Amino acid sequence: MNTLIKSLAGLGLGAALTLTAGTAMASGSGCGTFTNADGVDEHLACSTAPIDFTNKGSLQNGAKIFMNYCAGCHSAKYVRHSRIAKDLEIPPELVEKYLMVTTDQIGDHITAEIDPEIQASWFGAAPPDLSLETRLRGDDWVYTYLLSFYEDPNRPWGANNLVLKNAAMPHVLHNMQEELSQEEFESEVGDLVNFMAWMGEPARHDRQVIGFFVILFLLVLLIPVYLLNKEFWKDVK
Ligand code: HEC
Repeated sequence: MNTLIKSLAGLGLGAALTLTAGTAMASGSGCGTFTNADGVDEHLACSTAPIDFTNKGSLQNGAKIFMNYCAGCHSAKYVRHSRIAKDLEIPPELVEKYLMVTTDQIGDHITAEIDPEIQASWFGAAPPDLSLETRLRGDDWVYTYLLSFYEDPNRPWGANNLVLKNAAMPHVLHNMQEELSQEEFESEVGDLVNFMAWMGEPARHDRQVIGFFVILFLLVLLIPVYLLNKEFWKDVK
């Protein structure tokens, strides 16, 4: 009996760990350290990214921002435009008209407008592919990074970043930040990161929902299995 419970518990625990692994791995390292005005090193806590795959409006807005502000330099080579249309429920004609900036074939992947190799010689670092960026760094890291640009006249593009010290990336959302209130800006960046999280794992929401019911099923199954085991062994001994 003990072995049975142990193995069932092991199964449940294993599944639960897999479910949370993505978030746990990502949030472990925090959002870096920075030196404050008094010259003391401070730890920067990550802000929580508002991830919600059921909010199609947010994902659609995020896709719009990504294609307009990021795809000039960054590719997302594992993501097809047609998948954006399908999953985000955007009519393909609208994707073709407004979201395809680097190709005219809707089945194509998202490539960067400017060759990243050439950009490496401009910026000192090539802009990485962003398909799996939220999986690599975590949703909260990316969200905090995009909210942490500040003016720094010593940097070639006049901006620096608290999360990624001396980042080679210019503050590309500068105008947006100027035009909007802090709250509105955070909401736009939240939509953008929501979209990036979807790019990293489109099935994430389904996985979590299915995972919940799998665990529930296993727990309910434990009751008849336990009773059956009792029944089988009652005459032995
Ligand atoms: C002008 C070109 C350019 C644009 C536009 C741009 N980036 Fe970047 N980005 C870069 C470069 C260059 C780097 C490399 C920074 C470094 O390693 O110092 C970078 C780095 C990053 C990183 C950190 C990667 C890592 O893990 O170290 C993220 C995240 C990122 N960009 C997101 C975005 C998003 C989101 C947008 C759109 C809002 C965007 N970028 C627009 C050039 C750009």
